[in-house]
Amino acid sequence: MADFPEAVVNRLNEFKEEVVNRVDAMSRNDRLQAEAAEFMRTSMRCQYPYNFSWMSRPIIQYPQDMVAMQELIWRVRPDLVIETGIAHGGSLIFSASMLALLDMADAIESGTTLDPGKSNRKALGIDIDIRVHNRAAIEAHPMASRIQMIEGSSIAPEVVEQVRDIAAGYQRVLVCLDSHHTHAHVLAELEAYAPLTSVGSYCVVFDTVVEDLPADMFPDRPWGPDDNPKTAVREYLKTHQEFEIDKSIQHKLVITSVTDGFLRRAV
Ligand SMILES: C[S@@+](CC[C@H](N)C(=O)[O-])C[C@H]1O[C@@H](n2cnc3c(N)ncnc32)[C@H](O)[C@@H]1O
Repeated sequence: MADFPEAVVNRLNEFKEEVVNRVDAMSRNDRLQAEAAEFMRTSMRCQYPYNFSWMSRPIIQYPQDMVAMQELIWRVRPDLVIETGIAHGGSLIFSASMLALLDMADAIESGTTLDPGKSNRKALGIDIDIRVHNRAAIEAHPMASRIQMIEGSSIAPEVVEQVRDIAAGYQRVLVCLDSHHTHAHVLAELEAYAPLTSVGSYCVVFDTVVEDLPADMFPDRPWGPDDNPKTAVREYLKTHQEFEIDKSIQHKLVITSVTDGFLRRAV
């Protein structure tokens, strides 16, 4: 980061403090919280998170969570992002594009030349069913050189072993869990992949919000209140004090599918 004059540093710090204070006030604003909860219920029924794309690939996320992931990736500067749940590839392309920006920033900061096709950074996606058309579109994407995909269940021992072997070659790892949202599955994913999270990095568990939504919200899915990613997180954290829930992220987002799911590895 550039060497700024003291007055500039002070102003930048003041702005950061303003944000912290505003977010804190928002987290205690009952009306805002109630209206956001109502929006989550109504928008989820409309399948709102299916409306978006990232660099042309459909991404099944709330845009707020994409902004949060951008902030996290820029802060952590991972060299490996592990993601369960590829679907159309949007979130994997998103992570790969953030890694490309990190490569670009590194090159600018170190005064070296960037080779756009070469990177030590990788976005590793795992999905039980990578549809032919999705694989073709991901493999043809300009971000493809930073992507590796594994097809198989994220909790199958041979898949977990493969991911662990790949992760062993990286220093700073960020994990995102967004596949099958039952308690048992997410708990097994946490056991398998959360330990790969580097100290200071995050394991992000998507769709924890299912716990806060009405029981009839996902009639064709096996998950719902009492059986979902948030219940798995609660169970996992009972025996894993190395992780803490970073509530500051959900407090600033207000609209998010990740309530109590931004897990920061403290030690
Ligand atoms: C919610 S979508 C992923 C969305 C994606 N992360 C995005 O943001 O665009 C869930 C994906 O999990 C996959 N999935 C379901 N069960 C799985 C399992 N046991 N192991 C790995 N992936 C699984 C599905 O095939 C589906 O593509």
